Amino acid sequence: MSQQKDAIAPHGGELINRIASPEQRQEFLEKADFLPVVQLDERTLSDLEMIAIGGFSPLTGFMEQADYETVVSDMRLSNGLPWSVPITLSVTQEVATPLVEGNLIRLDSPSGKFVGVLKLTQKYTYDKEKEALNVYGTTEDKHPGVKVVYEQGPINLAGPVWLLERDDHPLFPQYQLDPAVSRALFWERGWKTIVGFQTRNPIHRAHEYIQKCALETVDGLFLHPLVGATKSDDIPADVRMRCYEILMSGYYPKDRVILAINPAAMRYAGPREAIFHALVRKNYGCTHFIVGRDHAGVGDYYGTYDAQHIFEEFEPSELGIIPMKFEHAFYCTLTKGMATSKTSPSKPDQRIHLSGTKVREMLRRGEMPPPEFSRPEVAAELVKAMQG
Ligand code: ADX
Repeated sequence: MSQQKDAIAPHGGELINRIASPEQRQEFLEKADFLPVVQLDERTLSDLEMIAIGGFSPLTGFMEQADYETVVSDMRLSNGLPWSVPITLSVTQEVATPLVEGNLIRLDSPSGKFVGVLKLTQKYTYDKEKEALNVYGTTEDKHPGVKVVYEQGPINLAGPVWLLERDDHPLFPQYQLDPAVSRALFWERGWKTIVGFQTRNPIHRAHEYIQKCALETVDGLFLHPLVGATKSDDIPADVRMRCYEILMSGYYPKDRVILAINPAAMRYAGPREAIFHALVRKNYGCTHFIVGRDHAGVGDYYGTYDAQHIFEEFEPSELGIIPMKFEHAFYCTLTKGMATSKTSPSKPDQRIHLSGTKVREMLRRGEMPPPEFSRPEVAAELVKAMQG
């Protein structure tokens, strides 16, 4: 596959591949018992995976201090390329002290499996409150992203990484389409414009509406739900995948939509994460990216459209991928269809929209959300899962 044929170049120009070659893998396996070990958690394991498959291109490893500092303060890597969220491997002082810069470190999964190698180029301390405030917009530890920062170790380990091998996803192997594969698929289908959709929720009518509005203007839709770590009250990925399959089989045209998993962890960084989500989808080959209301938000930390406004802080050519911005969508009882305040003159009481919290409460009580909010087959699947 030649990159010239792709609809869009990866961020930074080159699709990174940090999966160890068979020879490297052999060499690492021979050294495994002699290398110091750092154990990854669920998030850093998925970061390792994302770096290795090129989802985080141009990153080749965990960030060094220069990149970390400019990402936190200016949303840019030290070479000026836009990047909005730090990708770091933070450890305790005890773990960091014996590690020697210049040496290889063995990276183990949370279950103790040897999964990767880091060539340690730097150990550095960082300012957690500054990271919290700049990246998440708050220093409150109630914020799930800030909580992670506060709970992690005070030393960042940096350097290039290798993933030992690319395993099939344990739950959704058929939907594991890495960036090189999604790019090839888009090309095979002849799609020149592809819109990416991020979600950590079941797809409800409002999601479906904005996806289909976008799809009306491009060649294909890349439905790319995040299946890495999410907060505990989000709907689990296996339940969501069943809901996506239901929609794909009954409500979406097969030749215009590709469903694939995004293995990354959710950070809940709102506007900054919207930029990050867009750049990741650019690496998967998307030319456009949907940003709706309170994208990647949590609680009331961000304004409804902050995640849209942040795109104005960059030149469109620096990002490459084009944001498609949508207002808050709802079912409108006046016009009898999905709409936003841009397309319907209805009053608030003529708009059916339910908050995530309200829906979770209904599901726990075994109540089906109304068909104006969720396709009945999806609602039934959710009720079944929540009751079980
Ligand atoms: S997110 O954390 O992954 O952003 P969610 O899965 O709810 O959360 O949203 C996926 C995408 O749909 C985001 O771009 C979000 O802004 C958008 N979205 C969600 N609900 C609505 C809605 N009612 N109207 C418009 N956009 C929405």
